[in-house]
Amino acid sequence: MTSIVNENPVFVGIIGGSGLYHLDNLTFVKTVNPETPWGFPSSPITIASLPSGTQVAFLARHGTGHTIQPSAVPSRANIAALKSLGVRAILAFSAVGSLREEIAPGTFVLPAQIIDRTKGVRPVSFFEGTGIVAHASFGDPFSMRLVNWLEPRVRKAIEAEGRGVQLFTGKTIVAMEGPQFSTRAESLMYRQWGGDLINMSALPEAKLAREAELSYALIATATDYDAWRPHTGTVTAAEVMKTLHANASTSRLIAATILDELHAAVSQAAAAGGEVPEILSEEVGSM
Ligand code: ADE
Repeated sequence: MTSIVNENPVFVGIIGGSGLYHLDNLTFVKTVNPETPWGFPSSPITIASLPSGTQVAFLARHGTGHTIQPSAVPSRANIAALKSLGVRAILAFSAVGSLREEIAPGTFVLPAQIIDRTKGVRPVSFFEGTGIVAHASFGDPFSMRLVNWLEPRVRKAIEAEGRGVQLFTGKTIVAMEGPQFSTRAESLMYRQWGGDLINMSALPEAKLAREAELSYALIATATDYDAWRPHTGTVTAAEVMKTLHANASTSRLIAATILDELHAAVSQAAAAGGEVPEILSEEVGSM
């Protein structure tokens, strides 16, 4: 995929999920709405500067007024638009259901693996219809370099917040098709498969970021226990809404704490042609 080089490249893109429609501690610079070969992104992208002057790009996955349901998110346009601004690494936030007792609502997770339960209704490749046969490695669906870089920093930010929010790593997320939540039987099956979390957004976003050769990590924020617990009600939208607010404020704190350092690390790696192993993934390829 060709990058449209921007005059003022921003190296870090943030995708906000349900409840996270803006970040704190940033000075608004401008909004941009790049039209890509796959259409326009979910919402205009906000370019904002950190107190240090570093610029980042923020995109609301479901639109600024949360008007786009998961299966209709224009993920190709979102990823292509971020890339066109010069973005090299994406920090994506997403509300998720928990399939494990220890991952209580309010917990944050940096997942390492994905089980694909999307139903083929969303375009999953930039190469569809191009006549080009391309295969990208996806054994590690998230950029583990980025995930490993993030872990101590996210942990520190969460500890500094002092609300007792827990952070897990190394978990597996099931990416399902919405908009309905899972049945109890499905939820129990996902646990047997080794799923720890479930959401409707990890795919195709992670696949497209990989094809676009962008480092991509997900910060998953648990809002509910899905439908597997025998003696409790199954997940409802109202339950999800309850924890969204607190999760969003912790997400904003994490972003405010780490974005400067992340931008510095990514720009350093980018300047070195992506060879510096700290942050950027080199693992993408097409044929
Ligand atoms: N997003 C938040 N909670 C979810 C759940 N239980 N299933 C799918 N997506 C979700």
